[in-house]
Amino acid sequence: KTGEEEGMRDEYQELIQTLPKESDWVGGYLYLYQGCWCLSMSFQGLIFFQRHFQAHDTDVIIITPPKSGTTWLKALAFAIANRMHHPLSQSLLLTSNPHDLVPCFEFDIYHENPFPNLENIHSPRIFSTHTPYALLPSSIKDSKCKIVYLCRNPLDTLVSYWHFIGKLRPETVEAISLDQLVDMFCRGLTAYGPFWDHVLGYWKATQEMPNKVLFLQYEDMKVEIVSHVKTLADFMGCPFSLDEEKQGMVEEIASFCSFDNLKDLEVNKTGKLHTGKQNNNILFRKGEVGDWANYLTPTMVERMEKLMEEKLEGSGFTF
Ligand code: A3P
Repeated sequence: KTGEEEGMRDEYQELIQTLPKESDWVGGYLYLYQGCWCLSMSFQGLIFFQRHFQAHDTDVIIITPPKSGTTWLKALAFAIANRMHHPLSQSLLLTSNPHDLVPCFEFDIYHENPFPNLENIHSPRIFSTHTPYALLPSSIKDSKCKIVYLCRNPLDTLVSYWHFIGKLRPETVEAISLDQLVDMFCRGLTAYGPFWDHVLGYWKATQEMPNKVLFLQYEDMKVEIVSHVKTLADFMGCPFSLDEEKQGMVEEIASFCSFDNLKDLEVNKTGKLHTGKQNNNILFRKGEVGDWANYLTPTMVERMEKLMEEKLEGSGFTF
């Protein structure tokens, strides 16, 4: 396949030359591709994923806009699916970050490799992506695989994103102010944005195909996690038995995957992030709802809320 792979890399190099681009504020670019602002660091992976991924009917795909609680959802899905293989006291989550156990198509699996071997993974295979619905490979849409979508209030997502890019930023790249980031958000210019298109794409999909797309919100999970763990297990095709429920397995998984528990594991305090030089601890900041109030001015809030209201109008969805 080497010739074919080389050809694809050349084609990709040519493609990015033609796309509108903006700074991603961490030393790379956002490229506007098929209506989505894609990160340069994972763009080649996204193209390979779009072209080559073959879904299995039993696959579970976790999809989020960045900074919506992906790490949390990956931990929950992994703990649910692997509880037969490892009791929580021996869980791989004790020694690996959730991103190392549930790989991302564009950042990990297809990052450098157009033809990764995914056939020997036991089912359900659990993968993740930040790709908007419109850009998903057709095999995900056409197969019976399941999509678990998680999003979060845009104000908290933005504040979390701002802190995160502040930590990823190389010294050579100027820091972006919150004011600038709000402006970029409102122009749709955040990773995998426009944010509202991302959310609405999956909102529409879950309305049309509730058995295929489970639509979750971070705030609801924070209010009441236990019923969400059960819903997630049912949806993934690994429901809890009555015995497991009686033994408190659902509650155990919920508290095992809580912010406080995961953040204090050695691997998440000192281990290295899957994509770069930083520590896993940058994935665990506060884990709270409403932290935006400590950062955003009333003017920023008003601008974002007004825009979101306009964009979501008529969809039946509100944050
Ligand atoms: P904050 O920056 O608001 O604290 P992602 O995993 O998609 O990158 O999202 C990161 C956000 O999820 C961060 O939000 C992080 O603190 C929070 N988070 C990480 N693990 C969590 C958990 N187990 N429960 C709840 N929130 C969590």
